[in-house]
Amino acid sequence: MDHARRHYLDQIRRDGVTLAPAVAKAFGAVPREVFVPDGFYTGDGRRVLPADPEFLPTVYSNDVLVTKLTGDVPVSSSSQPSLMALMIDALGVQPGMRVLEIGAGTGYNAALLATMGAVVTTVDVQPDVADRARSALARAGIGGVRVETADGYTAGPDGRYDRIIVTVGVAGVSPHWLDRLAPGGVIVVPVEHAGTHPVLAVRNGAEDEVTGAVVCPAGFMSAAGPLTAQHTGSHPQPTVFAGDLDETAEQRWDPALDALAYRDLWYAAGAWHHRVTRAGVPRREQTCFALVDDSGAAGAAVLPDGRVLASGPAAEQYTAVAVALAERWWALGRPPMRAWRVGLAPGGDPAAPIRVPRTWTLTRRPDPA
Ligand SMILES: C[S@@+](CC[C@H](N)C(=O)[O-])C[C@H]1O[C@@H](n2cnc3c(N)ncnc32)[C@H](O)[C@@H]1O
Repeated sequence: MDHARRHYLDQIRRDGVTLAPAVAKAFGAVPREVFVPDGFYTGDGRRVLPADPEFLPTVYSNDVLVTKLTGDVPVSSSSQPSLMALMIDALGVQPGMRVLEIGAGTGYNAALLATMGAVVTTVDVQPDVADRARSALARAGIGGVRVETADGYTAGPDGRYDRIIVTVGVAGVSPHWLDRLAPGGVIVVPVEHAGTHPVLAVRNGAEDEVTGAVVCPAGFMSAAGPLTAQHTGSHPQPTVFAGDLDETAEQRWDPALDALAYRDLWYAAGAWHHRVTRAGVPRREQTCFALVDDSGAAGAAVLPDGRVLASGPAAEQYTAVAVALAERWWALGRPPMRAWRVGLAPGGDPAAPIRVPRTWTLTRRPDPA
């Protein structure tokens, strides 16, 4: 393995992900640069081309590579490697397994799965994206991957799959995926929750019961079509607060919650309250979670140190709810997001229904603080 890819593996591990030997081997073997032959876009919309000095160092970093924009909105990318590794790990891929991927993108994730011995079908709703993924796989000399253009809602071409991995954010699980899943199979899928897309490992249970275990936090671009239909339990769209906010509850934690604990609180708040979403707050770089009112631009935002910043006519009421949610989470021993099980029920567009999160249950005693 060359130096760049060894350094790449080190970075993924340094960002907290343990790589199983087969996963590490795949990341070490597949040339990621072959899957971004036209370069990628940085966060400020600048294009980085293969000839640019920063091209290879960025390709072999733990960063998402945005490969297609519509206006300034990313519509295709190679996802963050540490997130891909966590999702592949949750998939439990073994050589010979039939895997369906929804969201071919660059083809890089499909290449990793094929390198681990899976037989992969990957679908993308954008024909030009699917074509480029097909060409990249051929250039990289990776066999065992079929690339199709289709809306992933339909699950693409006929076939049964041992595993399904969804690499685009959805509001719920397509019933077609459940129909195509072999007994004992699992669907690893980022499902909208409180303005983000935490990854669930979803299984078919007895008597039409469909449940998901939370795997990890994630942010994904949203899927096109019925996979992102609104439903009665949808949290509000991510938002940016308008105007100034007042500090309505003082600092609660010193030191402040670290990034993972804050995500755990965010998840719990979203499970307990349907007005929780991701919000940008004026003069704060990081987005946070907030309870937002019907205008979408006011409510109460909770910071990692427990302070609440609020605005709008219901500022006081939303602050009281935010504080109660934080207290409840703390009193339960700060349950991690992995402790939640999600029940998925029919919802979305009646003409193209999906299984959406409906119930949340804490499954085990949380780890001691
Ligand atoms: C984050 S990228 C996927 C990354 C990819 N797995 C890789 O390794 O590069 C998300 C992809 O999902 C595709 N997509 C969006 N909505 C879709 C849908 N309804 N069905 C299939 N693909 C979809 C987008 O066109 C985009 O290419």
